[in-house]
Amino acid sequence: MAKKKIAMLTGGGDAPGLNAVIYTLVRACHSMFDCEMIGYKFGYRGMYLNDFVKLDNNTTSGILHRGGSILYNSNKDNLFNYSVVENGAEVRKDVSDVAYQNMLNEGVTHLVVLGGDGTLTSARDFARKGEKVAGGGIKVLGVPKTIDNDLPATESTFGFDTAVNIVTENLGRLHTTAESHHRVIVVEVMGRSAGWICLHAGIAGSADVIVIPEIPYTVDGIVKKIEARSAAGKPFSIVAVTEGAAGADGKPLVEKFVPGSPDGDRFGGVAKYIAGQIEERIKDKHEVRHCVLGHIQRGGDTSPADRILSARYGFKVAEMIRDGETGRMVCLKGGKMESISLEDVLGRGETGETAKGGAKTVDPNGELVKVARALGISFGDL
Ligand code: F6P
Repeated sequence: MAKKKIAMLTGGGDAPGLNAVIYTLVRACHSMFDCEMIGYKFGYRGMYLNDFVKLDNNTTSGILHRGGSILYNSNKDNLFNYSVVENGAEVRKDVSDVAYQNMLNEGVTHLVVLGGDGTLTSARDFARKGEKVAGGGIKVLGVPKTIDNDLPATESTFGFDTAVNIVTENLGRLHTTAESHHRVIVVEVMGRSAGWICLHAGIAGSADVIVIPEIPYTVDGIVKKIEARSAAGKPFSIVAVTEGAAGADGKPLVEKFVPGSPDGDRFGGVAKYIAGQIEERIKDKHEVRHCVLGHIQRGGDTSPADRILSARYGFKVAEMIRDGETGRMVCLKGGKMESISLEDVLGRGETGETAKGGAKTVDPNGELVKVARALGISFGDL
């Protein structure tokens, strides 16, 4: 069997578990077949600039537990719509052929892309390029990643469990200070338009109110819960809010539009806004504070569960390379490692594509919401 040259990259935002996938993939591939491996730096940008590092057991030693990515991340380098400066002006161009040729010149036979929906959409488009090349071109495989856990094509993405652990721990920390001061603390967590992190951590961390994008909140609903707790002798409350949550108007608070990013809108400010609204109503009884957990949710070490999930993904990709597969993404289905076509993985953002089936969001009438309600947790609805 001819020697394989496997390139990989980590696109989009970082998520704890990327390094564990790289660590496992490198070891599994070397144990299964003869190969060389390289990693492009800063996602697709490295592919375009031909900027890569050699990956082997030595250069990837000691990274299994570490968050971030040793290959670095970028979430605004879509090579099919890339920002270049021409005649002193910024223009957007499709530079994907340049990147593809770079790979061919390097003798790359396989490309493994670790990323979220934007990154995987490009992976699909690189796989399509291969179909037009005589002999099949470079084989492309994807690995799903996002702390938001909102990819419908897989039951679970790595990074999510770590984020839930971090948020849960921080809700506990905020509880003790809120209780001491008889305060209400509104905590903003990540997740974009999906409330998974907030819902899981909110239940595990005993939030009193969980505000998620899937269930429009009302200030009245949140205040009602806070007052009910006070009346029951609990004059403090924790309100956990997803960054993309919205009230009756359905409009989340957008801090900034980020051109070139597949996510587009950067959410932010909802915790501060809700805290201000609540304070107007209850300032005679409680002080209100807000806290934005931000990128703390993605930092530090990877949780043991995410290390295992990532290792399983990495191992499965190695098997798929061995078996000659292309144009597919590994996924978790019924608790088992499977794969699906990249054609069936959703796209979002500036490619203008409509998500296939949309992002995976929380069912407002689903089991976990019912569990939370049974625990007395309010969703800020009336
Ligand atoms: O998609 C993952 C995520 O962490 C979201 O939860 C969050 O809205 C976004 O990325 C933040 O992106 P950035 O790191 O570019 O600020």
